[in-house]
Amino acid sequence: MNHPRRPLALLPTPLQRVPRGSTRLPPAPLSRAVLGGMYLKRDDLSGFGLAGAKARALEYLLGDALSCGADVLVTGGSPGSNFIAGAALAARVCGVECEVLVSGTALERVPVTLQMVTCSGAKVLYTGSDRAELDKLVDEHAARLRDEGRAPYAIPRGGATPVGALGFAHAAEELAAQLTFADDVVVVLPTGSGASIAGLLAGRAIIGARWRIYGVSVSRPLPQIRGEILGLVARMGFSAVTDWELIDATGPVDDRDVDTMLLALRGEGVLLDAKYGTKALAAVAGLRARKETAPIVLWHTGGLPGALDLLARAAT
Ligand SMILES: Cc1ncc(COP(=O)(O)O)c(C=O)c1O
Repeated sequence: MNHPRRPLALLPTPLQRVPRGSTRLPPAPLSRAVLGGMYLKRDDLSGFGLAGAKARALEYLLGDALSCGADVLVTGGSPGSNFIAGAALAARVCGVECEVLVSGTALERVPVTLQMVTCSGAKVLYTGSDRAELDKLVDEHAARLRDEGRAPYAIPRGGATPVGALGFAHAAEELAAQLTFADDVVVVLPTGSGASIAGLLAGRAIIGARWRIYGVSVSRPLPQIRGEILGLVARMGFSAVTDWELIDATGPVDDRDVDTMLLALRGEGVLLDAKYGTKALAAVAGLRARKETAPIVLWHTGGLPGALDLLARAAT
């Protein structure tokens, strides 16, 4: 796997073993049952802006953009997208301009993710339409810039291209080097665009690991996201991937997310967001209830802005 990479993240991120409950205060028993004995892959500590795990994809996307001679990055997302915040910052750090298409119309309360886009010097363009339209609009916008003589590098939502997925393909190698104690593990990771899990599946195939992988789909219906993941994996050159499953975690934030967040926070001092982190931890609890006995690695993909929103909700 020899592809241009622009280092951005502090890698490897730690693999943390969660001890089996050290406090007697609530929610110690619950915390022991769900979190105790599991492992957290701490991509929330990747150290690049607010990007979390998305810094991995951006290293390869920026590497490719720079090697193609791009002078402007074009991407898109919803206002709360962690990916657009990371992409705008990565472009700035690499000396490339950035234009970000944002679904919907200007908001009264600008989320931290969008503040990061603006502070990185990127241009924000509201599309006035649904986020499902974004990838098409990103391509059209890039084509317009090309007609004007620019050299755009277009990136779909979440960095979901074979190049973006390379970040997690390499993360498979990184995790394998840390898993010195077992090779029969279960890996759980939250799934939005599918770029991360597609990369992890490809990376697992390359190194021949025996992990079972669960993707916790937070935004797209399972048949759709399954097709998108398999499409990406195929474009990376892998046809038959087995030993993986998707768990449906679509749906609004509710009080269970607050409870799950408090469980991780009070039990272990770990901050989770409601879109990705709490849904993934709830999926781990489900696997435990199904008597999953293999060691579980939960990929903490970041999402700090959303975690702060959830804290605010819990505190009111
Ligand atoms: C914090 C966080 N976790 C998980 C994901 C999902 O990753 P993917 O889009 O690669 O499936 C995202 C997507 O932006 C994210 O921001």
